[in-house]
Amino acid sequence: MADDKIFIPLILGTNRRDRKSEHAAKWVHQKLQERDDIETRLFDVREFDLPRDHYGTEIGSQFPEWRDAVIKADGLIVVTPEYNHGYPGTLKSVLDLLLKEYIHKAVAFVGVSAGPWGGTRVIEAMVPMVRELGLAVTFTDLNFPKVGTKFDEKGELLDPAYNDRVTGFLDELVWMARTLRWGRQNLKSKHH
Ligand SMILES: Cc1cc2nc3c(=O)[nH]c(=O)nc-3n(C[C@H](O)[C@H](O)[C@H](O)COP(=O)(O)O)c2cc1C
Repeated sequence: MADDKIFIPLILGTNRRDRKSEHAAKWVHQKLQERDDIETRLFDVREFDLPRDHYGTEIGSQFPEWRDAVIKADGLIVVTPEYNHGYPGTLKSVLDLLLKEYIHKAVAFVGVSAGPWGGTRVIEAMVPMVRELGLAVTFTDLNFPKVGTKFDEKGELLDPAYNDRVTGFLDELVWMARTLRWGRQNLKSKHH
């Protein structure tokens, strides 16, 4: 049923030239598009023309497509590389553009790293931050360790095991997103 679809935008969290996270983001986005229970849109932090001298929700209205997508969203997927065990500053700057729009929505993480831990550390670093945004974190992450071995230079996936993994990852996010949507629509809260 079309009106039963849930809306899950995905954001690619790095603007680095030659970023490998782009392969992961595009592949997961493709998987989202293949599902008939999900509507999606890919955002890229590179497309946000962030000012040099201002920050935060005061400038959120300058990014209406992002704001409208987050307002409409039931869930969010963040694709983040691990940079010194943390997240890219640009990703944080983009997330900080909004606040109340995220409240009581689900978020799932895709971690990407050159090292063997698949962004586990950056995801753990993000959890307390997104909690302050009012997002509810799923417990099923998707990790791309040694990402250089997972995609070829054209972005084609080299490891078919990810086809099963992404299904579990998305199923859990859909469950969380639907549950929270029911709550937003049916339970009183001072936040929405
Ligand atoms: C500033 C910086 C810090 C990094 N720190 C880590 C790290 O802590 N752990 C790790 O496994 N890889 C680290 N990397 C490598 C990235 O994980 C690697 O580039 C990977 O491809 C994902 O990032 P990308 O999307 O920018 O390519 C770092 C890369 C940069 C540019």
